[in-house]
Parts: sequence; C-alpha cells; structure tokens
Amino acid sequence: MTAQREIALGQRLGRAQEGMRREGVGLVVLPLGSNLRYLSGFSDEPAERLLALLLPAAGDPLFLVPALYEAQVRHASPIQELRVWKDEEGVDGVLTQAILELRAERTTIAVDESMGSGFLLLFQRVAPRASYRGVSAILGPLRATKDPEELLAMERASALADEAFARASELRIAGMTELSLARVLEQTMVELGADGAAFQTLVASGPNSALPHHRAGSRRIEVGDVVILDYGCRVDGYCSDITRTVVCGKATDEVVRVYETVREAQERARGAVRPGVEAEDVDAAARTVIAGAGYGDRFIHRTGHGIGLDVHEPPYIVAGNKDRLSPGMTFSIEPGIYFPNRWGIRIEDLVRVTETGVGVLNKATHELQVVR
Ligand code: CO
Ligand code: CO
Repeated sequence: MTAQREIALGQRLGRAQEGMRREGVGLVVLPLGSNLRYLSGFSDEPAERLLALLLPAAGDPLFLVPALYEAQVRHASPIQELRVWKDEEGVDGVLTQAILELRAERTTIAVDESMGSGFLLLFQRVAPRASYRGVSAILGPLRATKDPEELLAMERASALADEAFARASELRIAGMTELSLARVLEQTMVELGADGAAFQTLVASGPNSALPHHRAGSRRIEVGDVVILDYGCRVDGYCSDITRTVVCGKATDEVVRVYETVREAQERARGAVRPGVEAEDVDAAARTVIAGAGYGDRFIHRTGHGIGLDVHEPPYIVAGNKDRLSPGMTFSIEPGIYFPNRWGIRIEDLVRVTETGVGVLNKATHELQVVR
C-alpha cells in the first residue's frame, strides 16, 4: 500500500466519522463488500464467516476477522487493530468483547444494507439494546464524489471497454450466439488488463434488443439484426459500463432514424451536466428529445445511475431526484427506445462532473456501426 493511498483511506475514515456524529450513529458495521473496501482497502467476495469492520464515531476502527483471513487483511489494510476469531470458537465471544470495547451496547448501529440477515440477527443477539439502521445515508454521499485516484481507475476501465468495442466491431458477428459474443467482449477486456467483467455482459440481438434487461442467450445473430452490447469491466475495483447498439449487415431507414434520436438524447443529456444542476434535469434533457420525436412511451427506464466500486450507486439520474451534481461525481447516461418484439436501441457512456461541466469517460464512437 502506498503512503498516498493510506492517507486517502485515513481521510475517508475521518469523513465517515464526521457523518456518524452528524447522524447520531455510534458504530458502523461493514461486512465484506464495497463499503468495506472503500474504508479499509480490503476486499474479498462476501463469505459465510463474519469478517467486518467496526468503526466507532470517535477513535480507531477495528476488524473482526476469521483466522484464515488474518494475513490477507494485515497485508491489504492500514487498519491493524484485528480481533481474530477461530472456527472452533465461533464468532460470538469475540464480537461480544468488541461491542463492549467500543461501548456500543446501547448505541445506534448503522449496518451495511447489503449485509446478510444472518449477520444482522447475530448483532441483534449480541447487542440487543442497540438500535439499528442503514449506513447509506452516511457513506453514499462520500462515495458519490470520487477522488483523483478513483477517477483514474474509472477512466482506465472505460478505456478498456472502448477498446473491446472497437475490436468487436471488426468481427463477423452474423452466426455467432449472443453468449459467444459476450465471452469475446469479456475476454478482450481481461486480455487488455481488466480484473474481470463488472457485471454479466448483455448481448441482446434482434427482438431481444427490445428487452432492456435481456442478458445473453443461445440465440444466433442474423443479418438484419439490431444488437445491443452493454458491458463493462473492473480496474482496481472500479467499474466501467458502456452500451453500444450495432446492426448486423444492413440498417433500415427506421433503425437509422431512431438511432439518431437516441444519440441526440444522449448527447443533450451529456450537455446538461455541470455542477449545481439537479440530477433530474439530466434525465429531462434526454427525455425531452425522445418525447419530441414521438417515442416518449418507449423510453421505459431512468436515464442513468452513479457508478464506482458498485455498478449502481448514487446519484441516480431519474425524475424526482433533486440532488445537485457536484465535481467528482460519476454516472451513466443511457437513454433508449424499445419496440416490443421488434428491436431496441440504447447508447450509454459514463461521464464525470468536472469543476465547470462534464467529462466523458467513454471515447467509443457514437456513429451507428454496421457490423458484418
Ligand atoms: Co450498462
Ligand atoms: Co448502466
């Protein structure tokens, strides 16, 4: 761990504790997941054994760690106060001690909303007089504003996704199954240096492209298909998320017309991004273009979502969200138009709010690509 990274983590802990005091929270409990990674530097897949960071509103945090993780945690995190528990002892005794040590028996404990109910029930058994609530009101706003190191990782992740699109555009996709094209995109990003896919790659061809959440299946791509590619990768834990719509062989006039509408909506929404603007204004900018072209009822989802360590996190770019954008926020802009049983079109880029306006993380072309 670099000294710079250690300082950044220390600052995050301090800001989290400020938020805790403001919210009247005495203890934050973070199991394995993106919040734990954000504050401690340690990450692993959520597991059956309880591994958690316990952060008091003042003073030093401590880790509750199953013995088999001890060396990994010591290596990855500057937080070195570990309370290690062994399989044959179980976690209850060590957890009870830790709650006493942190004077948290009667406090308000904020837990990670992604924590499994089994772990929550364990805390409620060990500290029955504490009150429990979620932590997102404290950590969500912190995580929404990325620091320069986080932005670098996100730019790199988006650059790898862009390059994977450029390479996929050179393929002969007619006759490929959706799944095999999805594997090519994922493998390309890994070969270029990604840690792996950020989420299950979506390849939706022909009528499947009208389903915004179709993933990828055994359907073979045919000449004349509209094909939506929506995918991303991780770099140092940070996600990319890009969508491009291509046509196989030849585009009809109708496809070209609708594509240009989505493209204009996407670019208008991008142009609406600057500090101080409400999140819903960006959504409205895209929606106005699509409604103006007569497809308002075919744009059936929000315009975008924040992204970082998680693929979906605040700020959400949706009607009704009056949160104001500020520099360092990163989110997607992904309007779409869908015709059930026929085809659909979506274009998605990640953007970041700069001091004066907007920066676009994705550089892949917006020109409609006709692929063989
Ligand atoms: Co996406
Ligand atoms: Co997205």
